[in-house]
Amino acid sequence: MSRFIALVPAAGSGSRFGAPSPKQYLQLNGRPLMWHTLSVLSQVAAIDEVAVVISPGDEWFDDYQWDLPKLSVHRVGGASRADSVRNGLRALGAGLDDWVLVHDAARCCLSVAAVERLMAALSDDAVGGLLALPVPDTVKRADGDGRVSATVPRQGLWLAQTPQMFRAGLLAEALDKGRTEDITDEASAIELAGMKPRLVEGDAQNFKVTYPRDLALARAILASRKE
Ligand code: CTP
Ligand code: MG
Repeated sequence: MSRFIALVPAAGSGSRFGAPSPKQYLQLNGRPLMWHTLSVLSQVAAIDEVAVVISPGDEWFDDYQWDLPKLSVHRVGGASRADSVRNGLRALGAGLDDWVLVHDAARCCLSVAAVERLMAALSDDAVGGLLALPVPDTVKRADGDGRVSATVPRQGLWLAQTPQMFRAGLLAEALDKGRTEDITDEASAIELAGMKPRLVEGDAQNFKVTYPRDLALARAILASRKE
């Protein structure tokens, strides 16, 4: 039986956010931001393990109570997100056929329902896939001067989210083959290896906390779920 493992890269420094601690440790409704992320993944019944990858120099993780039964911690984060995922995959010791769901620590408003939809859509898939959102707005291309040079037809355009779900063996091979600078997400590594990940519709709540202005929305979404 293949296992389902959530792999959560959390070794970034949050430079765009610009807080004294990395954004994944900001307090959100009484818990560190990424506690909410890890908690949702733990609540998915079919997920066997939630593996978080933190930086070897992480000074914050041990300050908090995590109390999540499926959690394992790996201090093997790297210089880029792709490196953190690569190192995490190695540290996990997953079987080649195990499913790995890579999910950004900073997407703390993920829902159990969205993860289950992804897992259901991919259960028999030969490649794997990702949650993504059809682009809702009209898309403009800018010239070098802050003016519109073209309107890009949005038909067929999707915004990639996470989790991104692939078999451990396939993903490790694709990540090892691709150049780090070409790999912006797991799907891009699989694409570089010549395969076509499946797009599964996610939702707008599963956004990535990137800037300070994103916190109010994350707070409101999490608070609304507690009620
Ligand atoms: N990440 C990681 N290792 C890195 C860089 C990023 O594990 N070397 C993780 C982050 O912790 C985050 C996820 O990848 O959960 C998505 O990255 P991003 O939102 O870009 O976070 P940061 O890199 O921390 O932020 P920034 O790019 O603003 O510095
Ligand atoms: Mg980053």
